[in-house]
Amino acid sequence: MRFDILTIFPGFFDSVLDYGILKRAQVTGQVQVARHDLRDFTHDRHRTVDDRPFGGGEGMVLKAEPIFDAFESLGLSAKEQRDTSRETVIMLSAQGRPFSQSMAHELAGMDRVVILCGRYEGIDERVNEMLCDREVSIGDYVLSGGELAAAILVDAVVRLLPGALGNPDSARFESFGAEDVAEESMTTDGVPRATHGSGGLLEYPHYTRPAEFRGVPIPEALMSGNHEVIKRWRRRMSLEKTLRNRPDLLEKATLTDDDERTLRKLRAGIRGAMEQEM
Ligand code: ADE
Repeated sequence: MRFDILTIFPGFFDSVLDYGILKRAQVTGQVQVARHDLRDFTHDRHRTVDDRPFGGGEGMVLKAEPIFDAFESLGLSAKEQRDTSRETVIMLSAQGRPFSQSMAHELAGMDRVVILCGRYEGIDERVNEMLCDREVSIGDYVLSGGELAAAILVDAVVRLLPGALGNPDSARFESFGAEDVAEESMTTDGVPRATHGSGGLLEYPHYTRPAEFRGVPIPEALMSGNHEVIKRWRRRMSLEKTLRNRPDLLEKATLTDDDERTLRKLRAGIRGAMEQEM
């Protein structure tokens, strides 16, 4: 798989790509991440990539010309001729569609992902209209540019490539795992099969040695050695964390009758605790 990142700060990615899974995937040749400096596609002495916005207003706008020239130098096919199931061009901006784990899975199936990092107030919209397949945002906040967002996107995709993680199930059963996993991780009697099958829930908490740290022991269930007890404890913790941190996810999650019962108790517990505080 190949990424092409178009940016005015190509050096930004050097350290990000030099660690852990991202580094290993490049060393093994699974992934190539080419960085292209948009200033290399300017034709004036000052290597100008930006200009004032038509109609007035704050800040500067990235010009279309260097970006079009960079695309041509990369041999990218025109938008209409692109096989967008194998190759996609992404513009990163705060106005984009939200990035998600399912988008990461979709991108991990491609041969080539081209990422255009915005800066300043934005990019001349003709770039979006004529070159980009999608506009993507990593969250509801405004960054000073698309570079950090690009690093996040590349990381989330590369770790999904076959063999990138030591244990492929780590990616399949984690929080926000692929949507099809929810079904797979249930047994026919509707009990979550995998001990860590999250089915659209947030993952349960983890502990490692020592069993007691600064007077705080690990939860008893994890010491039981009983897989059924551990499985049920983890499911309950997943439900509890999701209810507390991301209740919106519960609406789409695959839940068993047991889960619904647990949630009713947890909600009552939360109400009880709130009433006590008042
Ligand atoms: N550029 C500025 N803010 C951004 C965001 N939230 N996501 C992607 N690119 C951005």
